[in-house]
Amino acid sequence: MKHIQVALLLLMLSIVTQASTTEATTSMSPLIDTTLQYLSQPRETTASHLRMTPELFANVSGSLDDRGNCQCSVYLPDTTFPVQKAEQLQVIATTLVEKFERELSVVKEYSERIELYQQKILNLTIRVEHMEKTSVSYTELDFQLLKVEISDLDRLVTQLKSTVIGSNVIVDQIYLEIRNLTILVNELESLDKNNILAIRRQIVSLQNRLKECEESRNQTTAPPYFPPGSCIHGGLLNVSQPYVVKLNWRGSSFKYGSWGRDYSPSDPEQEVYWVAPLNAEGRYLQYFRIYKTFDDLLLFKPMYERTLAYGEGSGAALYNKFLYYHAYSSTNIVKYDITNNRIVLSKALPNVVTGNRFSYAGVSWQDIDFAVDENGLWVLYSTENNMGNIVISKLNETTLDVINTWQTRQYKPSVSNAFMLCGVLYATRTVNTRKEEIFYMYDTNTGQEGRVNIMMDKKLDTIQGIDYSPTDQKLYVYNDGYLLRYDITFRH
Ligand SMILES: *[C@@H]1O[C@H](CO)[C@@H](O)[C@H](O)[C@H]1NC(C)=O
Ligand SMILES: *[C@@H]1O[C@H](CO)[C@@H](O)[C@H](O)[C@H]1NC(C)=O
Ligand SMILES: *[C@@H]1O[C@H](CO)[C@@H](O)[C@H](O)[C@H]1NC(C)=O
Ligand SMILES: *[C@@H]1O[C@H](CO)[C@@H](O)[C@H](O)[C@H]1NC(C)=O
Ligand SMILES: *[C@@H]1O[C@H](CO)[C@@H](O)[C@H](O)[C@H]1NC(C)=O
Ligand SMILES: *[C@@H]1O[C@H](CO)[C@@H](O)[C@H](O)[C@H]1NC(C)=O
Repeated sequence: MKHIQVALLLLMLSIVTQASTTEATTSMSPLIDTTLQYLSQPRETTASHLRMTPELFANVSGSLDDRGNCQCSVYLPDTTFPVQKAEQLQVIATTLVEKFERELSVVKEYSERIELYQQKILNLTIRVEHMEKTSVSYTELDFQLLKVEISDLDRLVTQLKSTVIGSNVIVDQIYLEIRNLTILVNELESLDKNNILAIRRQIVSLQNRLKECEESRNQTTAPPYFPPGSCIHGGLLNVSQPYVVKLNWRGSSFKYGSWGRDYSPSDPEQEVYWVAPLNAEGRYLQYFRIYKTFDDLLLFKPMYERTLAYGEGSGAALYNKFLYYHAYSSTNIVKYDITNNRIVLSKALPNVVTGNRFSYAGVSWQDIDFAVDENGLWVLYSTENNMGNIVISKLNETTLDVINTWQTRQYKPSVSNAFMLCGVLYATRTVNTRKEEIFYMYDTNTGQEGRVNIMMDKKLDTIQGIDYSPTDQKLYVYNDGYLLRYDITFRH
């Protein structure tokens, strides 16, 4: 590379020497003239010598190195040859050309730049005016940005002023406008700091306090909503006061029984209710009714009335249009098709103890209690093996086979009733003739048992059945022949 440069310089030098010999200096441009004047200094010592020995650099032998670069050596007989001066000369020539072109275009450039600055200032002025008019757009950030932009402009115009030869009216004008703008923005900001920003902060703080207030108020009045069928909540928090729906359809002598709402996971919106009072002696389940809507239930307009032979106890439950119940005087559980009025399946529940041995406290013949929750069909009972404590089994509703079993440490005859909710068993005990307490829970998801303390008001002494409906997240309670319903609130 260095070698090529040297060769070029030599070439250039030879042209220059040729030019001087032909005496063509008078017709040249001022730029070249300057260059030639500069060149005339070293020429005195070298040009004559060079002219006398042109053959010295006419023949140069070159070679290729192993990287493919061309290399050649030039013999320079005179060490005073102005290689460095020539280099300087080249640089100066380039600089001069550039400077000349710059000088030529400077007026055009300045007017362009001034136009741009004027545009920018116009934009800034519009923004400042807008800020003045609408206090809404006052923010600290706006001022920061404005100040940065204005100081940029200030710097540019100061540069412009120093480069423009003599004073320029337009630039001076811009300079003044920028100064005015700076003062204006500072004034606006100080104004804002004292008033608008402070007021805004106050408003924000008030808004936050209002929000907090609203949130705490919402917590006490409107509990969080969890969609039916979901288990994203943290379990049972509380139950409402009981709503007395009505007396069961057979009358006040029919103190045992169960009632509730069907849960069809594939068709969760559909309303189907069952009411199944036992015969008056409190053991036989012989008749039950199905209602298409809640209104029908209130108006005694059943869709079907079915007759069984027979079920036992108040533990029946409806799930996906099938009634599940304990077959009379056996260890069998039955799946009954309410639509087609027939028994689909009857199967022994392994290890179950029946015969009113481990029924609930104050309630006879409910050795087997069906429960339905978001996860499906469950059965609650006791075994000799578990010493009469509650056993929870998840059933396959197609086959009535037990899928899984959990052994609790809660003695079944000491609880007044039980239900399932999101895989958690909740059990109640009687406090007095008007209150029941949900006091025990067993979580089949974790295998953990625990204590809870949720009071449940009731209308009469005894609760014969509690059934939870995942469809509407309510508790359906059979209370000495009366049908009660409770709303539920969940934990977060
Ligand atoms: C330059 O070299 C060529 C070939 O090597 C030769 O023919 C020629 O005479 C040389 N010229 C001078 C001026 O030495
Ligand atoms: C001025 O504002 C206009 C419209 O918002 C925009 O198109 C233009 O690029 C801006 N000029 C400068 C120099 O910022
Ligand atoms: C700058 O502000 C001064 C005083 O407010 C005013 O007299 C002058 O005209 C303004 N200059 C420009 C260029 O806006
Ligand atoms: C409070 O509840 C009302 C209606 O019950 C609702 O419009 C509002 O968004 C709730 N506010 C908060 C902060 O949750
Ligand atoms: C539970 O609900 C009852 C009945 O609405 C209410 O009186 C009671 O204060 C609630 N308890 C809690 C802890 O929220
Ligand atoms: C229930 O049993 C049926 C028939 O054996 C089977 O297809 C289905 O997968 C079972 N369901 C569950 C949840 O085990």
